[in-house]
Order: sequence, then structure tokens, then C-alpha cells
Amino acid sequence: MTQITGIKLNSIVKRFGDVTAVNNISFEIKPGEFFALLGPSGCGKTTTLRLIAGLETATKGTILFNDQDVTRAEPKERDIAMVFQDYALYPHMTVAENIGYPLKVRKVNEKEKAKKVIETAKQFKIDHLLDRKPGQLSGGQQQRVALARALVHQPKVFLFDEPLSNLDARLRLESRTFLKHIQSKLGITTIYVTHDQAEALALADRMAVLKDGQIRQLGTPQEIYEQPADSFVADFIGDPPMNLIDCRLNPIKGNLEILFPGIKVTIPEEKLVLNKKVDPKKDYIFGIRPEHVILADRKGDIEGKVYAIETLGSMTLITLMVGDSRVRVNTHEMNLGLKIEQEVPIKLNYDMVRIYEKESGLLIK
Ligand SMILES: Nc1ncnc2c1ncn2[C@@H]1O[C@H](COP(=O)(O)OP(=O)(O)OP(=O)(O)O)[C@@H](O)[C@H]1O
Ligand SMILES: [Mg+2]
Repeated sequence: MTQITGIKLNSIVKRFGDVTAVNNISFEIKPGEFFALLGPSGCGKTTTLRLIAGLETATKGTILFNDQDVTRAEPKERDIAMVFQDYALYPHMTVAENIGYPLKVRKVNEKEKAKKVIETAKQFKIDHLLDRKPGQLSGGQQQRVALARALVHQPKVFLFDEPLSNLDARLRLESRTFLKHIQSKLGITTIYVTHDQAEALALADRMAVLKDGQIRQLGTPQEIYEQPADSFVADFIGDPPMNLIDCRLNPIKGNLEILFPGIKVTIPEEKLVLNKKVDPKKDYIFGIRPEHVILADRKGDIEGKVYAIETLGSMTLITLMVGDSRVRVNTHEMNLGLKIEQEVPIKLNYDMVRIYEKESGLLIK
């Protein structure tokens, strides 16, 4: 049985000449955890993964596997299975040989190997391609061969770098579900890199959101979705995205005035308890997810005017003009009978409102 491995990164810096790809990152991954690294292109995800694999050497900081310092250890000493962004299959080997390669290296007998190769290939629907060479496959097929090769054996750690990016939507969902299933079953520590926030939310036990080589937030998908730590994370996570509206805040006599472009809302102060004293001269961002804006029957907190109605199947996305801002409302109700330009009252779930300082981006509620 493979030992379950915990991973610790302590103040890792990686520079390429004068480019700082990873800028002082620290995090800890528990044994058996599914951990996602999420962030926009160029934020340092692949570099972080390659450092953990031993394919790059850190400029500063240390990496531990359990309590063992592996900062300078060779990749082969780390017992990792990695699926790269560009999948790197062996071009001269058939699909079956590619998938079976990790077992061959570990001297697993032929019969056992053949069985495992077919089993794994079936999971990714590539069992009809076993005799082909990688050059005779589509991008998506190659990607699935790379995944099958990683999952055919049980390493200490799985590292995945955007492994589903070349698959069509349906296949991506199926492969994602299979990955989640197999990882939960095997309990092998996994780090999964993606720029797709939905994928990170769906797969991860915990995740880190990266920007410019730094961690902006670390937590469970639910924590990050419900309480984005800054306005970058708030904007990056969620589809449809969070409503983020510039505003001014003005506390007067037990009330809080919220001045949105073109409209003012006054609410009792206790509805929106802020953890910092507000400055009426400063700019703030008012954040609320589309599912926390509620269409009211009669009297609401604010009036909106219907701008567009989009049917998403299980949901309806309604965009309203509130003052001069567009506000998205996501509802399960289907036949609302709304018309374009119609005035509708809305209520806000103030518990779920987030307020950020515009300048620093920091969360104050
Ligand atoms: N070998 C290298 N030499 C010089 N700069 C590099 C090298 N590798 C990465 N970088 C730079 O480091 C930064 C982080 O790159 P990295 O590949 O880790 O980003 P990423 O988050 O994986 O992006 P993507 O989502 O586009 O794959 C980028 O600015 C990139 O140009
Ligand atoms: Mg990358």
C-alpha cells in the first residue's frame, strides 16, 4: 500500500531571470486531499506544479513530502504521476504501451498489466484506440491517454495540469466525474491546476486562488464562493459572475445610505454590519451573487427594470437595470411572465452581501 503523502510549501519563490513566476507561496496539503490551484493565465500555476514535481528548482523556500525535505530531490525520487498541460506521450509507443508504461517500470506481470490497461482505457472511452500511436489521435484522445497513464498505477501524489482542457464539454464533465470518483476511492493526494473556476469548485476539497504568483485566498470551495476575500476573487469565482457595483457608503442616524450610480438605497445599519468604519469619501464595491437577489412580489428594497431574460434550462437569468447598473438575478422559476423594460421590485439577501474597499480590494463584510 502506498503511503499517503502530505505536502508542504514554505515561502516558495521561483524566478526565471527577472520574471518572478512564484512569489512567496506557502500552503499545506493534507494527506489524501484533492487540492486545486486556480488562477488566470500566467499566474504561476504550472510553475508551482513543476516545483512540486521536481522539474524546476525553487529560488527560495522549501518543499516537504510528509516530514521529508524534497526541495532538491530528483523527480524520480518523488514517486509522482503527472499529467502535463501538453500531455507528453511517448510517440513511438502504442496507446496500450503508453498507458502500461508506469506498470512496466514497476515490473508488474504482463497479465495484470494488460488487465489494468484495458480497465483504465475503458473508463476514458479509449479502449478502441489501444493499437494506435499518439500521432494518430486527436488532441482530446491524447489527453485521455495521458490521464489513463497517470491513473493506471498508484503513486504517492497525482499532479494534474489542466488535464481536461482539450475535451469537449460533455467528455470534460464525464472525465471530471471519473477523476473525482477515482481520487476519492484511492485517496491519493492530488494537486489539480486549472484556470476554470467551475472545475476547481467541483473537484477540490480545498483550493488556492492565485494571481501574479501569489495566493489571494485559500479555503474550501464553499468558503471561497460564499466569502471571496478580495474583489479579484469575487470577480473570478462564479458563473454567472457576482454582481459587483461601485458605491459610496454614508452612515447617518442608525441608517446606512448606499449610493449606487443613479440610485440611493437606505437600510437600517444592523442589516449590513461592517467590520471597519466606513469613510463617506471613499469608494466601495457592493457584491451580491445573482442567486441572492430575489424578485419580490410587491414591496422590495429596490426597483429594477428588466433589461434581458435568458433561459438557462434549470435556471432563468434575468438582467435588471438598477439605477445605472446592471444586476443579474438567477432564479429557479421558469415562467415569470416578465417583459422587457418592466419595473420589478427586488429584495437583497443582506447576509450574503459582501463589501470591498475599492482601492485595496479588501473585504470589509
Ligand atoms: N522557463 C521559463 N522562463 C521564463 N519565464 C517563465 C518560464 N516558465 C514560466 N515563465 C513565466 O512565469 C509566469 C508563470 O508561468 P506559468 O506557466 O506558471 O503560468 P500558468 O499559471 O501555468 O499559466 P497558464 O494558465 O497560461 O498555463 C509567466 O509570466 C511565464 O511567462
Ligand atoms: Mg500553465
